[in-house]
Amino acid sequence: MGGFTQTMGKTPILGPAVVTALRARTALSYYKRPAVEIVRWLVRSRETTNFTYDLEEQNRLHLAALLADLLNLEFEGILGYFKELEGDAELKTHLATHAADGGLSFVADPEARYGRRLGWYAIARATKPRVVIETGVDKGLGACVLTAALRRNLAEGDPGTYYGTDIDPKAGYLLAGAYASQGKILYGDSLESLRRLEGPIDLFVNDSDHSAEYEAAEYDAIADKLSEKAIVLGDNAHCTDKLLRFSLDRGRRFVFFSERPARHWYPGAGIGISFRR
Ligand SMILES: C[S@@+](CC[C@H](N)C(=O)[O-])C[C@H]1O[C@@H](n2cnc3c(N)ncnc32)[C@H](O)[C@@H]1O
Repeated sequence: MGGFTQTMGKTPILGPAVVTALRARTALSYYKRPAVEIVRWLVRSRETTNFTYDLEEQNRLHLAALLADLLNLEFEGILGYFKELEGDAELKTHLATHAADGGLSFVADPEARYGRRLGWYAIARATKPRVVIETGVDKGLGACVLTAALRRNLAEGDPGTYYGTDIDPKAGYLLAGAYASQGKILYGDSLESLRRLEGPIDLFVNDSDHSAEYEAAEYDAIADKLSEKAIVLGDNAHCTDKLLRFSLDRGRRFVFFSERPARHWYPGAGIGISFRR
């Protein structure tokens, strides 16, 4: 009685094999687009790690709405920060000009695609942090986004300094020129650099060693150096509960934004956000 259709009166009854095939077709239809995107990406991108992409438009709007609520600002104001970064021609030119500077160690596409870093930028613009720390710099895309925010804050009368940490002495080559004047990279193990750093830290981005233990150790290392209203962002929050646990243990609030990349096969990471009202 395998996979053939029988009829009972006028209603066709599908056999189990046909039903299984139809169910498989439904499930597989969700993977057609990523398969097409893989082919497109193989042809158009050269990136090998730390992939870059834009956010799907609805996902971008959801991020703006989430940040507007969290920062108690107007939705349009957050969107304005997004547009400021997306329209920053100086930064786009800078990234394209320096894309190849990583030599054989790093491969960066020349196009500027910020993904969830739009959220990092808007938070840095809205809260005017005096001290920003990003652990794990890689090529320096996040570093450039954060220092671009600090440059605009400075022009508006709110100075701030960026510190990146990275164990790779070749990391951070994109942080050059005018962007480098807003801060520097501390080379060596992130935990050691964090222990040496004095606070207060206003904005902290965790994005170095992505093991759960290392992530938690970073939060412990900076816990007593955070300013009253400090915001802690976790780039590992789609994989672990360490930032959630840190927030619960310290009387902080926690929310998570889940990325949906546009025109890319990568399923997306996210932003864990730990904050105080
Ligand atoms: C995912 S990348 C960072 C991406 C970057 N934040 C961005 O916005 O593009 C992770 C980086 O963490 C660095 N890293 C890994 N383990 C580390 C450690 N123990 N201390 C400092 N940096 C580390 C790696 O060298 C790598 O450059």
